[in-house]
Amino acid sequence: MTASELRKKYLEFFKSKGHAIIPSASLVPENDPTTLFTGSGMQPMIPYLMGEKHPLGTRIADSQKSFRSGDIEEVGDNRHTTFFEMLGNWSLGDYFKKEQTGWMFEFLTKEIGLDPEKIYVTVFRGDESLKIPRDNESVVYWQKLFKSIKVEALAVDNAEIGGMQNGRIFFYPVEKNWWSRAGVPNNMPLGEPGGPDSEMFWDFGAELKIHENSIWRNKPCHVNCDCGRFLEIGNNVFMQYIKTQAGFEILKQQNVDFGGGLERILVAINGNPDMFLTDIFAKAKAEIEKLSEKKYEDNKEAFRVILDHLRAATFLIADGAYPSNKDQGYFVRRLIRRAVRFAHKLGIEENFCSDIAKIYIEYYKEAYPDLLQKSEKIFEELRKEEEKFRKTLEKGLLKINRFKIDDIVVRTSIGEVELIPGDNNTIADKLFELYSSHGFPLELAIEELNNKNIVVSDETIHVFNEKLKQHQELSRTASAGMFKGGLADHSEKITQLHTATHLMLAGLRKILGENVHQKGSNITQERIRFDFSFSDKMTDEQKKAVEEYVNLAINSKADVVMEEMTLDEAREKGAEGAFENKYGERVKVYSIAGFSNEICGGPHVQNTGDIKGVFKIKKEESSSAGVRRIKAVVE
Ligand code: ALA
Repeated sequence: MTASELRKKYLEFFKSKGHAIIPSASLVPENDPTTLFTGSGMQPMIPYLMGEKHPLGTRIADSQKSFRSGDIEEVGDNRHTTFFEMLGNWSLGDYFKKEQTGWMFEFLTKEIGLDPEKIYVTVFRGDESLKIPRDNESVVYWQKLFKSIKVEALAVDNAEIGGMQNGRIFFYPVEKNWWSRAGVPNNMPLGEPGGPDSEMFWDFGAELKIHENSIWRNKPCHVNCDCGRFLEIGNNVFMQYIKTQAGFEILKQQNVDFGGGLERILVAINGNPDMFLTDIFAKAKAEIEKLSEKKYEDNKEAFRVILDHLRAATFLIADGAYPSNKDQGYFVRRLIRRAVRFAHKLGIEENFCSDIAKIYIEYYKEAYPDLLQKSEKIFEELRKEEEKFRKTLEKGLLKINRFKIDDIVVRTSIGEVELIPGDNNTIADKLFELYSSHGFPLELAIEELNNKNIVVSDETIHVFNEKLKQHQELSRTASAGMFKGGLADHSEKITQLHTATHLMLAGLRKILGENVHQKGSNITQERIRFDFSFSDKMTDEQKKAVEEYVNLAINSKADVVMEEMTLDEAREKGAEGAFENKYGERVKVYSIAGFSNEICGGPHVQNTGDIKGVFKIKKEESSSAGVRRIKAVVE
């Protein structure tokens, strides 16, 4: 089966169960300062899981582009990718466990014909300290389903210690069977939704002998042991809790958040665990084989890194994340550089990133048409970054090859590692120099040194990181650290700024003309960052006029009214919305009489008087050709 066929089957199946199909949201979240990337299908759904009404109803499904930056280092085996498509379906206070387990079973065993004997499921063990009970209800549903096709479905506990024990259903604790955007309950900020989950695993077969041959050898094999025999193919999250000061409370509505990796389900169907052998990568893989004159089979790690990273970079650039040294751009830069580094290893000396991107754009053009629209920009950014990095690479590798073994903290002698203490500072200095003056990334330096049997010690890396901190460049990119206070603490201010953004766009269109449209928006609790189509630098008078427009609206204490309508009706009513195709057929229009009328998902304040403070434009600058960027505050 091809990826396109599977995507289509999934969406059609959930459409037949009354779900509205929505397009994928951007990989770069809009107006969500808590995270850099969209890493799961539920992220853009959070307001609706929390109780806001979705214009398309209570049953939604999609295939969401997702990117997990934390997995960059993991890429190289047969199952890790940074970019993936997550098939998702949601009940927004509609159906719950019974329907979800039933539909999933039907989809997996009937619709795509997976052998039920090879499907295993997990459920939440319960947690006394959280006062959240064991999920016996899901067990009952799963057992009925398996029984209906005469498959034994014993529920067993403690598989971590006792192994499979002829079980089909397994209980696991929060570390495995709890899902929230921030991970386990302890890491969740107040106001964040989450819940116990029930996951489905595919068995690639004990005969693969992966377990026996690996570091897991002396441990019991079970569905969550990560030895490679079992692959998680889907996760039903029963999103019914919210973290509060008092502990976990039941949300206003019981939700289902299902997410399943398209690529993962595909390898289960095709019976081969290597994702890089699916049709998704076939053409790009052939091109790399042609350019390098090497075979995938003999160079799997390098091929996989290149295949994954360039696919991710292609999608990220299309969504407006351009290579740079901060925020999203930092990761795009890192992806491209790692891909080029591995290509260099394979002997690909000429620029090739755009060629691979072209293949992906062609492959995905029907499912993600905006790739085609953005193709010139994708090629341009890839070309620029690749050229720059190939120069860096040449210089850096020359320097690294001049490193003497005695310069380094660790020396190897026939398989043995011998530590030489005291040199960490010198080495960290050298590595940092390579990084700061040549842009040569630490991870690449480490890999290069490893190839020379030189191991860089943790202590050196620590010293390097300390230097980096002083350099104050990358600290803002750690996505985990961005979870600070969470949604609840900041959401009020952000909602105010969101409404102020509508007023600003209306003001810009009034002062600068109707050709002004939104090109991008990013709001944190501190400021608005807003991109719009306009070619010239704004004059001081123009900026002042826009400020006055917004402040007049704030002082008028005008009501913010939301109406749902079809896209055509919204257009007829003259609603502004440069991103129309993102929303699906029914949309919400927020209007502020006399000031603003715009298609938007919300949320907004109820009255402009709720915007506390004075609106001010702090900065106006060029963002890219024909696009200006404003930074503004309400203070
Ligand atoms: N949101 C859940 C996940 O990403 C479904 O696993």
